Amino acid sequence: MRKKVIAGNWKMNMLPNEAIEYIQTFEPMVKNSKAEVILCVPYTDLFYCIMNAQNTNIKIGAQNMHFAENGAYTGEVSGKMLKAIGVEYVIIGHSERRQYYNETDESVNKKIKSAFENDLKPIVCVGETLEQRESGETEKIITTQTKLALDGLSKEQVKNTIIAYEPIWAIGTGKTATSEDANNSIKAIRNEIKKIYGEDVSENVIIQYGGSVKSSNAKELFTTSDIDGGLVGGASLKPEEFSKIVNYDE
Ligand code: PGA
Repeated sequence: MRKKVIAGNWKMNMLPNEAIEYIQTFEPMVKNSKAEVILCVPYTDLFYCIMNAQNTNIKIGAQNMHFAENGAYTGEVSGKMLKAIGVEYVIIGHSERRQYYNETDESVNKKIKSAFENDLKPIVCVGETLEQRESGETEKIITTQTKLALDGLSKEQVKNTIIAYEPIWAIGTGKTATSEDANNSIKAIRNEIKKIYGEDVSENVIIQYGGSVKSSNAKELFTTSDIDGGLVGGASLKPEEFSKIVNYDE
């Protein structure tokens, strides 16, 4: 049985004092959760969050990284730097980064490899646009993105990758994919992984759903056959609401 992994993506929100207060409020609410709980926070909050989440079941992740270890890349942060302060997870290839910052399947692949070299667990985002969905291309787009993202990784690495299926039209729009649609897309991704890496890998890899997850739809989504939890944006900004998502099965 795969465990559920539920990650918050704060995006560009929360000052350090707000982040500390959040963790103090949130921690007792989720301390008995069966799901793995991750908060992916802005770079400037990472160290504060790591310090305040010590000895709790909350894991801390970044929202991006550079693929090089160091060098002349003004303004960038490497996987090695993240690891050095105790970060455990990193979101790679979020659609907002693909859309606004020129992230490509190639850079996503390089970043995932670098994440593993630095002992970070990548949360890799794939998803189709509304236009692609309407022209019936969803499955082709998401399986291709998955294949290119994972290209050249070992079976063991793919097993340790978290994939987040996030239909772009559902992100921040209040429109959620139906649990059946999301589950079918995730099955297609799992099947693609099975074709390339075998059943042992495909049956163990965690594949989340993301896009307007909230406490009112979490249970329906997370109790389908193939959805292994969620990547949650807007609804992760309030500890009460996010704790209800994490504790969806209570
Ligand atoms: P949302 O964002 O939950 O606000 O739709 C999800 C995401 O972008 O990861």
